[in-house]
Amino acid sequence: MKALVYNGPRDVSVVDVPDAKVEKSTDALVRITTTNICGSDLHMYEGRTDMQAGRILGHENLGEVIEVGDAVDRVKVGDRVCLPFNIGCGFCANCERGKTGYCLTVNPGNAGGAYGFAGMGPYEGGQAEYLRVPYADFNCLVLPPDAQEKENDYVMLSDIFPTGYHATELAGVQPGETVVIYGAGPVGLMAAYSAMIKGASKVMVVDMQKDRLALAEKIGAIAIHDVEGSGVEQVLELTEGNGADRGCECVGYQCFNCKGHEVPNLTMNNLVKTVKPTGGIGVVGVFIPEDPGAEDKLAKQGHLAFNFGEFWFKGQQIRTGQANVKAYNRQLCNLIQAGKAKPSFLISHELPLAQAPEGYKRFDAREDGWTKVVLKPGG
Ligand SMILES: NC(=O)c1ccc[n+]([C@@H]2O[C@H](COP(=O)([O-])OP(=O)(O)OC[C@H]3O[C@@H](n4cnc5c(N)ncnc54)[C@H](O)[C@@H]3O)[C@@H](O)[C@H]2O)c1
Ligand SMILES: [Zn+2]
Ligand SMILES: [Zn+2]
Repeated sequence: MKALVYNGPRDVSVVDVPDAKVEKSTDALVRITTTNICGSDLHMYEGRTDMQAGRILGHENLGEVIEVGDAVDRVKVGDRVCLPFNIGCGFCANCERGKTGYCLTVNPGNAGGAYGFAGMGPYEGGQAEYLRVPYADFNCLVLPPDAQEKENDYVMLSDIFPTGYHATELAGVQPGETVVIYGAGPVGLMAAYSAMIKGASKVMVVDMQKDRLALAEKIGAIAIHDVEGSGVEQVLELTEGNGADRGCECVGYQCFNCKGHEVPNLTMNNLVKTVKPTGGIGVVGVFIPEDPGAEDKLAKQGHLAFNFGEFWFKGQQIRTGQANVKAYNRQLCNLIQAGKAKPSFLISHELPLAQAPEGYKRFDAREDGWTKVVLKPGG
Protein backbone atom coordinates (compact mmCIF):
# COMPACT_ATOMS: atom_id res chain seq x y z
CA MET A 1 0.00 0.00 0.00
CA LYS A 2 1.01 3.64 -0.33
CA ALA A 3 1.85 5.46 2.91
CA LEU A 4 3.46 8.67 4.11
CA VAL A 5 6.62 7.84 6.05
CA TYR A 6 8.89 9.94 8.22
CA ASN A 7 12.49 9.87 6.97
CA GLY A 8 14.02 12.54 9.21
CA PRO A 9 13.60 16.22 10.11
CA ARG A 10 11.43 17.96 7.50
CA ASP A 11 11.67 14.92 5.24
CA VAL A 12 8.61 12.77 4.55
CA SER A 13 7.69 10.80 1.45
CA VAL A 14 4.93 8.63 0.04
CA VAL A 15 6.29 5.13 -0.57
CA ASP A 16 5.12 1.53 -0.96
CA VAL A 17 5.03 -0.34 2.34
CA PRO A 18 3.61 -3.76 3.32
CA ASP A 19 -0.21 -3.65 3.56
CA ALA A 20 -1.73 -3.07 6.98
CA LYS A 21 -3.59 -6.20 8.08
CA VAL A 22 -5.66 -7.78 10.82
CA GLU A 23 -3.04 -9.04 13.31
CA LYS A 24 -5.20 -9.92 16.31
CA SER A 25 -8.75 -11.24 16.48
CA THR A 26 -9.86 -7.95 18.08
CA ASP A 27 -8.58 -5.81 15.15
CA ALA A 28 -10.40 -4.23 12.24
CA LEU A 29 -8.86 -3.21 8.95
CA VAL A 30 -9.98 0.18 7.66
CA ARG A 31 -9.61 1.59 4.14
CA ILE A 32 -8.76 5.21 4.86
CA THR A 33 -10.80 7.76 2.93
CA THR A 34 -9.83 10.91 4.88
CA THR A 35 -6.82 11.54 7.12
CA ASN A 36 -5.58 14.91 8.38
CA ILE A 37 -2.25 16.54 9.01
CA CYS A 38 -2.17 17.83 12.60
CA GLY A 39 -0.09 20.35 14.54
CA SER A 40 1.08 17.34 16.57
CA ASP A 41 2.55 15.83 13.39
CA LEU A 42 4.61 18.98 13.00
CA HIS A 43 6.49 18.39 16.29
CA MET A 44 7.55 15.05 14.74
CA TYR A 45 8.06 16.47 11.23
CA GLU A 46 10.42 19.13 12.58
CA GLY A 47 12.53 16.45 14.28
CA ARG A 48 11.57 17.63 17.75
CA THR A 49 10.61 14.16 19.02
CA ASP A 50 12.28 10.75 18.98
CA MET A 51 10.15 9.55 16.04
CA GLN A 52 11.92 6.71 14.24
CA ALA A 53 12.64 6.92 10.51
CA GLY A 54 10.45 4.68 8.37
CA ARG A 55 7.32 4.98 10.50
CA ILE A 56 3.97 5.96 9.01
CA LEU A 57 2.44 9.20 10.35
CA GLY A 58 -1.24 10.04 10.75
CA HIS A 59 -3.54 9.88 13.77
CA GLU A 60 -6.67 11.71 12.50
CA ASN A 61 -8.32 8.93 10.55
CA LEU A 62 -11.67 8.06 9.00
CA GLY A 63 -12.59 5.29 6.60
CA GLU A 64 -14.55 2.17 5.74
CA VAL A 65 -14.17 -1.14 7.56
CA ILE A 66 -13.11 -3.80 5.04
CA GLU A 67 -12.26 -6.70 7.36
CA VAL A 68 -12.76 -7.62 11.03
CA GLY A 69 -11.05 -10.17 13.26
CA ASP A 70 -12.98 -13.14 14.69
CA ALA A 71 -13.49 -11.48 18.08
CA VAL A 72 -15.03 -8.28 16.70
CA ASP A 73 -18.79 -8.26 17.42
CA ARG A 74 -20.20 -4.81 17.01
CA VAL A 75 -18.32 -3.31 14.10
CA LYS A 76 -19.20 -4.69 10.66
CA VAL A 77 -17.59 -4.70 7.24
CA GLY A 78 -18.94 -1.67 5.36
CA ASP A 79 -19.29 0.53 8.46
CA ARG A 80 -17.95 4.05 8.07
CA VAL A 81 -15.89 4.76 11.16
CA CYS A 82 -13.92 7.59 12.71
CA LEU A 83 -11.01 6.53 14.91
CA PRO A 84 -10.01 8.43 18.05
CA PHE A 85 -6.29 9.27 17.78
CA ASN A 86 -5.72 7.57 21.12
CA ILE A 87 -5.99 3.80 21.13
CA GLY A 88 -7.71 2.36 24.20
CA CYS A 89 -8.29 -1.20 25.36
CA GLY A 90 -11.60 -0.48 27.10
CA PHE A 91 -10.86 -2.64 30.16
CA CYS A 92 -7.89 -1.13 32.02
CA ALA A 93 -8.27 1.03 35.13
CA ASN A 94 -7.95 4.25 33.11
CA CYS A 95 -10.16 3.27 30.16
CA GLU A 96 -12.82 2.18 32.67
CA ARG A 97 -12.93 5.73 33.98
CA GLY A 98 -13.10 7.26 30.50
CA LYS A 99 -9.42 8.24 30.50
CA THR A 100 -8.75 6.52 27.19
CA GLY A 101 -5.85 8.86 26.42
CA TYR A 102 -4.01 7.11 29.24
CA CYS A 103 -4.74 3.47 28.43
CA LEU A 104 -2.47 1.16 30.43
CA THR A 105 -2.69 -1.80 28.03
CA VAL A 106 -1.81 -0.62 24.54
CA ASN A 107 1.64 0.85 25.20
CA PRO A 108 3.04 -1.29 28.04
CA GLY A 109 5.08 0.62 30.59
CA ASN A 110 3.43 3.90 29.56
CA ALA A 111 0.00 5.47 29.85
CA GLY A 112 -1.41 6.15 26.40
CA GLY A 113 -1.09 4.87 22.84
CA ALA A 114 -1.82 6.43 19.46
CA TYR A 115 -1.47 5.84 15.72
CA GLY A 116 1.72 7.11 14.07
CA PHE A 117 2.97 9.00 17.11
CA ALA A 118 6.36 9.32 18.82
CA GLY A 119 6.40 7.62 22.22
CA MET A 120 2.85 6.29 21.89
CA GLY A 121 3.49 2.67 21.00
CA PRO A 122 4.24 0.69 17.84
CA TYR A 123 1.01 1.52 15.95
CA GLU A 124 1.35 2.73 12.38
CA GLY A 125 -0.40 5.88 11.25
CA GLY A 126 -3.31 6.31 8.88
CA GLN A 127 -1.77 8.63 6.29
CA ALA A 128 -1.91 5.54 4.13
CA GLU A 129 -4.37 3.49 2.14
CA TYR A 130 -5.16 1.10 5.02
CA LEU A 131 -5.00 1.17 8.82
CA ARG A 132 -5.00 -1.58 11.44
CA VAL A 133 -7.36 -0.63 14.28
CA PRO A 134 -6.73 -2.51 17.56
CA TYR A 135 -9.65 -3.27 19.93
CA ALA A 136 -11.96 -2.30 17.10
CA ASP A 137 -15.24 -2.72 19.00
CA PHE A 138 -14.07 -0.22 21.60
CA ASN A 139 -12.26 2.27 19.36
CA CYS A 140 -14.44 2.63 16.26
CA LEU A 141 -17.03 5.38 16.31
CA VAL A 142 -19.54 4.04 13.78
CA LEU A 143 -20.83 7.05 11.86
CA PRO A 144 -24.46 7.87 11.00
CA PRO A 145 -25.96 7.40 7.50
CA ASP A 146 -24.76 10.85 6.35
CA ALA A 147 -21.13 9.74 6.95
CA GLN A 148 -19.96 10.31 3.39
CA GLU A 149 -21.79 13.57 2.84
CA LYS A 150 -20.29 15.07 6.02
CA GLU A 151 -16.98 13.22 5.94
CA ASN A 152 -14.90 16.41 6.30
CA ASP A 153 -16.85 17.28 9.46
CA TYR A 154 -16.81 13.80 10.99
CA VAL A 155 -13.06 13.36 10.47
CA MET A 156 -12.50 16.20 12.96
CA LEU A 157 -13.91 13.84 15.64
CA SER A 158 -10.66 11.86 15.48
CA ASP A 159 -8.78 14.56 17.35
CA ILE A 160 -9.09 18.32 17.09
CA PHE A 161 -12.82 18.79 17.79
CA PRO A 162 -12.73 16.62 20.97
CA THR A 163 -9.32 18.12 21.85
CA GLY A 164 -10.65 21.68 21.58
CA TYR A 165 -13.65 20.61 23.65
CA HIS A 166 -11.30 18.96 26.17
CA ALA A 167 -9.44 22.28 26.56
CA THR A 168 -12.70 23.93 27.61
CA GLU A 169 -13.50 21.03 29.97
CA LEU A 170 -10.04 21.21 31.58
CA ALA A 171 -10.47 24.97 32.00
CA GLY A 172 -13.98 24.43 33.39
CA VAL A 173 -15.86 26.68 30.93
CA GLN A 174 -19.50 27.30 31.98
CA PRO A 175 -22.30 29.11 30.13
CA GLY A 176 -21.98 32.90 30.34
CA GLU A 177 -18.25 32.90 31.11
CA THR A 178 -15.45 34.70 29.31
CA VAL A 179 -12.68 32.62 27.76
CA VAL A 180 -9.24 33.45 26.39
CA ILE A 181 -7.56 31.00 24.02
CA TYR A 182 -3.90 31.09 23.02
CA GLY A 183 -3.36 29.73 19.52
CA ALA A 184 -5.65 30.05 16.50
CA GLY A 185 -4.42 26.84 14.90
CA PRO A 186 -6.97 24.06 14.32
CA VAL A 187 -6.97 23.13 18.02
CA GLY A 188 -7.40 26.70 19.25
CA LEU A 189 -10.18 27.29 16.71
CA MET A 190 -11.94 24.12 17.88
CA ALA A 191 -11.55 25.24 21.52
CA ALA A 192 -13.15 28.57 20.58
CA TYR A 193 -15.92 26.73 18.73
CA SER A 194 -16.50 24.47 21.75
CA ALA A 195 -16.61 27.44 24.10
CA MET A 196 -19.31 28.95 21.84
CA ILE A 197 -21.25 25.67 21.90
CA LYS A 198 -21.08 25.77 25.72
CA GLY A 199 -22.53 29.29 25.73
CA ALA A 200 -19.52 31.40 26.68
CA SER A 201 -20.37 35.10 26.71
CA LYS A 202 -17.07 36.23 25.20
CA VAL A 203 -14.37 34.18 23.49
CA MET A 204 -11.02 35.82 22.74
CA VAL A 205 -8.45 34.08 20.53
CA VAL A 206 -4.82 35.24 20.58
CA ASP A 207 -2.39 34.57 17.72
CA MET A 208 -0.01 36.43 15.43
CA GLN A 209 -1.49 34.97 12.25
CA LYS A 210 -4.19 37.05 10.65
CA ASP A 211 -5.58 34.35 8.33
CA ARG A 212 -6.27 32.06 11.29
CA LEU A 213 -7.67 34.90 13.39
CA ALA A 214 -10.08 35.69 10.56
CA LEU A 215 -11.55 32.19 11.01
CA ALA A 216 -11.91 32.84 14.75
CA GLU A 217 -13.91 35.97 13.90
CA LYS A 218 -16.01 34.04 11.44
CA ILE A 219 -17.30 31.81 14.25
CA GLY A 220 -18.04 34.78 16.50
CA ALA A 221 -14.88 34.99 18.60
CA ILE A 222 -12.88 38.17 19.18
CA ALA A 223 -9.57 38.04 17.33
CA ILE A 224 -6.62 39.31 19.36
CA HIS A 225 -3.78 40.04 16.98
CA ASP A 226 -0.71 39.83 19.19
CA VAL A 227 1.57 42.51 17.78
CA GLU A 228 4.78 43.22 19.73
CA GLY A 229 3.49 41.19 22.68
CA SER A 230 0.38 43.36 23.10
CA GLY A 231 -1.96 40.36 23.38
CA VAL A 232 -1.95 40.37 27.17
CA GLU A 233 -2.95 44.06 27.44
CA GLN A 234 -5.65 43.60 24.82
CA VAL A 235 -7.22 40.73 26.77
CA LEU A 236 -7.02 42.67 30.03
CA GLU A 237 -8.67 45.67 28.37
CA LEU A 238 -11.52 43.49 27.14
CA THR A 239 -12.07 42.05 30.63
CA GLU A 240 -12.05 45.27 32.71
CA GLY A 241 -8.52 44.54 33.83
CA ASN A 242 -9.53 41.30 35.62
CA GLY A 243 -8.71 38.68 33.05
CA ALA A 244 -11.00 36.03 31.59
CA ASP A 245 -12.90 33.48 33.68
CA ARG A 246 -11.15 30.65 31.82
CA GLY A 247 -8.11 30.20 29.62
CA CYS A 248 -6.96 27.54 27.16
CA GLU A 249 -3.43 26.78 25.98
CA CYS A 250 -3.61 25.51 22.37
CA VAL A 251 -0.05 26.11 21.17
CA GLY A 252 2.35 23.84 23.11
CA TYR A 253 6.09 23.75 23.83
CA GLN A 254 7.12 25.22 20.49
CA CYS A 255 5.29 28.49 21.10
CA PHE A 256 7.11 31.56 19.92
CA ASN A 257 7.21 35.30 20.47
CA CYS A 258 6.38 38.02 17.95
CA LYS A 259 9.90 37.81 16.49
CA GLY A 260 9.44 34.10 15.81
CA HIS A 261 11.82 32.92 18.58
CA GLU A 262 10.71 29.94 20.63
CA VAL A 263 9.90 30.93 24.21
CA PRO A 264 8.48 27.76 25.77
CA ASN A 265 6.96 29.42 28.85
CA LEU A 266 5.33 32.33 27.01
CA THR A 267 1.74 31.14 26.62
CA MET A 268 1.64 29.54 30.08
CA ASN A 269 2.73 32.75 31.78
CA ASN A 270 0.44 34.84 29.56
CA LEU A 271 -2.43 32.65 30.72
CA VAL A 272 -1.57 33.31 34.37
CA LYS A 273 -1.63 37.05 33.56
CA THR A 274 -4.86 37.04 31.57
CA VAL A 275 -7.04 34.64 33.59
CA LYS A 276 -8.83 36.16 36.57
CA PRO A 277 -8.10 35.26 40.20
CA THR A 278 -9.75 31.83 40.94
CA GLY A 279 -10.04 31.19 37.19
CA GLY A 280 -9.30 27.89 35.42
CA ILE A 281 -6.62 27.08 32.85
CA GLY A 282 -6.80 24.10 30.48
CA VAL A 283 -3.65 23.03 28.64
CA VAL A 284 -3.98 20.81 25.57
CA GLY A 285 -0.99 22.22 23.67
CA VAL A 286 1.68 19.51 23.93
CA PHE A 287 4.57 19.83 26.39
CA ILE A 288 7.11 17.01 26.58
CA PRO A 289 9.32 15.53 29.32
CA GLU A 290 12.54 16.09 27.35
CA ASP A 291 13.24 18.38 24.42
CA PRO A 292 16.90 17.99 23.45
CA GLY A 293 16.30 20.20 20.38
CA ALA A 294 15.27 23.22 22.48
CA GLU A 295 17.50 26.29 22.72
CA ASP A 296 16.33 27.01 26.25
CA LYS A 297 18.34 25.14 28.95
CA LEU A 298 15.33 24.36 31.12
CA ALA A 299 13.21 23.26 28.17
CA LYS A 300 15.84 20.69 27.15
CA GLN A 301 14.88 18.85 30.36
CA GLY A 302 11.17 19.46 29.86
CA HIS A 303 11.12 22.17 32.54
CA LEU A 304 9.48 25.60 32.32
CA ALA A 305 10.10 28.83 34.21
CA PHE A 306 6.44 29.03 35.24
CA ASN A 307 5.17 32.08 37.11
CA PHE A 308 3.99 29.98 40.04
CA GLY A 309 3.94 32.88 42.50
CA GLU A 310 1.34 34.84 40.56
CA PHE A 311 -0.55 31.64 39.74
CA TRP A 312 -0.72 30.71 43.45
CA PHE A 313 -1.53 34.25 44.54
CA LYS A 314 -4.44 34.37 42.10
CA GLY A 315 -5.73 31.00 43.33
CA GLN A 316 -5.98 29.69 39.79
CA GLN A 317 -6.44 26.07 38.79
CA ILE A 318 -4.73 24.26 35.99
CA ARG A 319 -5.47 20.95 34.26
CA THR A 320 -3.55 19.42 31.41
CA GLY A 321 -3.07 16.50 29.07
CA GLN A 322 -4.06 14.50 26.03
CA ALA A 323 -7.74 14.59 25.13
CA ASN A 324 -9.68 11.45 26.00
CA VAL A 325 -11.35 11.56 22.60
CA LYS A 326 -13.88 8.83 23.38
CA ALA A 327 -15.23 10.86 26.29
CA TYR A 328 -16.69 13.39 23.84
CA ASN A 329 -16.73 12.07 20.27
CA ARG A 330 -20.23 10.57 20.34
CA GLN A 331 -21.91 13.75 21.61
CA LEU A 332 -19.95 15.94 19.21
CA CYS A 333 -20.91 13.52 16.40
CA ASN A 334 -24.56 14.07 17.32
CA LEU A 335 -24.07 17.84 17.00
CA ILE A 336 -22.63 17.37 13.50
CA GLN A 337 -25.43 15.04 12.46
CA ALA A 338 -28.04 17.47 13.79
CA GLY A 339 -26.45 20.30 11.80
CA LYS A 340 -25.47 22.17 14.97
CA ALA A 341 -21.72 21.92 14.43
CA LYS A 342 -19.70 22.12 11.24
CA PRO A 343 -16.02 21.79 12.17
CA SER A 344 -14.96 21.47 8.51
CA PHE A 345 -15.05 25.28 8.35
CA LEU A 346 -11.35 25.31 9.15
CA ILE A 347 -10.23 23.10 6.25
CA SER A 348 -8.12 25.05 3.81
CA HIS A 349 -6.72 22.28 1.61
CA GLU A 350 -7.84 18.86 0.41
CA LEU A 351 -5.00 16.89 -1.20
CA PRO A 352 -4.45 13.38 -2.53
CA LEU A 353 -2.03 11.31 -0.43
CA ALA A 354 0.67 11.72 -3.09
CA GLN A 355 0.78 15.45 -2.33
CA ALA A 356 1.12 14.97 1.44
CA PRO A 357 4.81 16.00 1.49
CA GLU A 358 3.87 19.36 -0.01
CA GLY A 359 1.02 19.67 2.49
CA TYR A 360 3.45 19.09 5.36
CA LYS A 361 5.90 21.65 4.04
CA ARG A 362 3.37 24.42 3.61
CA PHE A 363 1.36 23.72 6.78
CA ASP A 364 4.63 23.58 8.75
CA ALA A 365 5.70 26.93 7.30
CA ARG A 366 2.27 28.21 8.43
CA GLU A 367 1.93 29.71 4.97
CA ASP A 368 -0.88 32.17 4.63
CA GLY A 369 -4.17 30.34 4.22
CA TRP A 370 -2.86 26.86 5.15
CA THR A 371 -5.00 26.24 8.25
CA LYS A 372 -5.88 22.55 8.00
CA VAL A 373 -4.91 19.97 5.42
CA VAL A 374 -7.01 16.86 4.81
CA LEU A 375 -5.62 14.02 2.73
CA LYS A 376 -7.69 11.71 0.55
CA PRO A 377 -5.77 8.43 0.04
CA GLY A 378 -8.62 7.10 -2.09
CA GLY A 379 -8.38 9.61 -4.93
N1 LIG B 1 -3.80 17.39 24.07
C1 LIG B 1 -4.12 16.75 22.95
O1 LIG B 1 -4.78 15.71 22.99
C2 LIG B 1 -3.74 17.34 21.63
C3 LIG B 1 -4.38 16.91 20.45
C4 LIG B 1 -4.07 17.54 19.25
C5 LIG B 1 -3.12 18.54 19.21
N2 LIG B 1 -2.49 18.91 20.36
C6 LIG B 1 -1.48 19.98 20.38
O2 LIG B 1 -2.15 21.23 20.31
C7 LIG B 1 -1.23 22.21 19.81
C8 LIG B 1 -1.87 23.00 18.70
O3 LIG B 1 -2.19 22.16 17.60
P1 LIG B 1 -2.60 22.81 16.19
O4 LIG B 1 -2.91 21.68 15.27
O5 LIG B 1 -3.61 23.87 16.37
O6 LIG B 1 -1.16 23.42 15.81
P2 LIG B 1 -0.63 24.64 14.91
O7 LIG B 1 0.84 24.55 15.06
O8 LIG B 1 -1.24 24.59 13.56
O9 LIG B 1 -1.18 25.96 15.64
C9 LIG B 1 -0.53 26.61 16.66
C10 LIG B 1 -0.84 28.11 16.58
O10 LIG B 1 -0.26 28.75 17.71
C11 LIG B 1 0.20 30.03 17.30
N3 LIG B 1 1.16 30.54 18.28
C12 LIG B 1 2.49 30.28 18.40
N4 LIG B 1 3.01 30.96 19.44
C13 LIG B 1 1.98 31.64 20.00
C14 LIG B 1 1.90 32.53 21.11
N5 LIG B 1 2.96 32.83 21.85
N6 LIG B 1 0.68 33.08 21.42
C15 LIG B 1 -0.44 32.77 20.68
N7 LIG B 1 -0.40 31.94 19.60
C16 LIG B 1 0.80 31.38 19.28
C17 LIG B 1 0.75 29.78 15.91
O11 LIG B 1 0.83 30.99 15.15
C18 LIG B 1 -0.28 28.80 15.33
O12 LIG B 1 -1.32 29.47 14.65
C19 LIG B 1 0.01 21.42 19.38
O13 LIG B 1 0.97 21.44 20.44
C20 LIG B 1 -0.52 20.02 19.23
O14 LIG B 1 0.49 19.06 19.37
C21 LIG B 1 -2.79 18.33 21.54
ZN1 LIG C 1 -3.99 15.53 15.79
ZN1 LIG D 1 -7.08 0.80 28.45
